[in-house]
Amino acid sequence: MILADKKILLGVTGSIAAYKAILILRQLKSAGADVTVMMTASAKRFVTPLTFKVLSNKEVYSDLFGQEEGLPHLSLLEGCDLILIAPATANFINKMASGIADDLLSSLLLSARVPILVAPAMDSDMWKNPIVQKGISILRETGIRIIEPESGLLASGKEGEGRLASEDGIFEEVCRRLNIKRDLAGKVIIVTAGPTREPVDPVRFLSNRSSGKMGYAIAIAARDRGARVILISGITNLPKPEKVEFISAPTTHEMREAVLRHLPEASILIMAAAVADYRPKKPNLKKLKRSGSSLSIEMEETEDILEEIGKRNTKTILVGFAAETDEVINNAVMKLRKKNLDLIVANDITLEGGGFESDTNIAVIIDREGSVQELPLMHKRDLAQIILERVMALKERDTANT
Ligand SMILES: Cc1cc2nc3c(=O)[nH]c(=O)nc-3n(C[C@H](O)[C@H](O)[C@H](O)COP(=O)(O)O)c2cc1C
Repeated sequence: MILADKKILLGVTGSIAAYKAILILRQLKSAGADVTVMMTASAKRFVTPLTFKVLSNKEVYSDLFGQEEGLPHLSLLEGCDLILIAPATANFINKMASGIADDLLSSLLLSARVPILVAPAMDSDMWKNPIVQKGISILRETGIRIIEPESGLLASGKEGEGRLASEDGIFEEVCRRLNIKRDLAGKVIIVTAGPTREPVDPVRFLSNRSSGKMGYAIAIAARDRGARVILISGITNLPKPEKVEFISAPTTHEMREAVLRHLPEASILIMAAAVADYRPKKPNLKKLKRSGSSLSIEMEETEDILEEIGKRNTKTILVGFAAETDEVINNAVMKLRKKNLDLIVANDITLEGGGFESDTNIAVIIDREGSVQELPLMHKRDLAQIILERVMALKERDTANT
């Protein structure tokens, strides 16, 4: 999670766009940030503090004198990495520019020594008003970063400049100010995740113990680093990650179709799904009943999605996974060569902390040039970041060689 360990104060002021601060909060939270919300009195007329309290899982602050601790305008700044005012009203911008400190948020800003981002939202005439523009210039001169409002339909029904910048644009600016990498911006990545289910009859299926956690962690990490992510997933118990394109593909056949359909758009394919190798050849159309004797089910090989794509020799970077019980490195190298992969992430599922359902993994990453990187036990979130680093290094090498 790229904003893990980052402490952000989100100031919300009294604009009609205040509801968008809810989406901004969710995006920051889902990237791992610790977000404290502060509201002006006017902002509370638009959205209730309760909404922010529940979504941030923290107290919401707005009263300079109503807090139990003595100096909230100072204590809230402790450990803070960045302050984001979104949306910022014309009134609040002018207050900031004049150094007025007549409520909690404006008082706190005068003491702040961390980066401050201001995302204005207002009617276009208000935005064009020379006093507001003067205020904006003063803020810029003092090092405050203005996230320019967009043009479009305004709350008044008129078209013009003044709409709050998009949540993605604001998120990107936050990352930039915190020096967080957005090295996947502009890239399309397909990630497959979870187990496949191969039907035996209308109620039963053959599957495996994959939880999908590794693939979902990669999808989230790639999204946070700016990629457009297409997550093609078998059935899991995990919540659909926000802001990724989600395609449900319960069977190997459906997963293959979805991957091939989207492959032309993608420059990176990461196949973290645990795809079945075999499926019942003729699933029973009706539920199988007890017959008093043993039952044999004839199985056929499923399509090998990675091998098929590897043979096409596309420019897409191909990453496979190998869950092994023995000879981990040898088996992984064989799979990498056979399927013409660029990178393979192998793990010994018999090791404690390295199995299917766990939040952690103990992996070995091998690339097409044969370099072997043995990694210690780590959270799948951290492994996801390392895999993406390795993918980007390969992509850079490819670009340098063309
Ligand atoms: C329905 C409604 C919508 C408003 N929307 C905006 C807005 O988008 N931008 C703005 O600058 N002011 C807007 N205002 C005016 C502000 O709420 C007003 O200037 C207020 O004093 C701002 O207080 P604050 O800056 O302390 O939050 C709106 C007022 C109303 C009643």
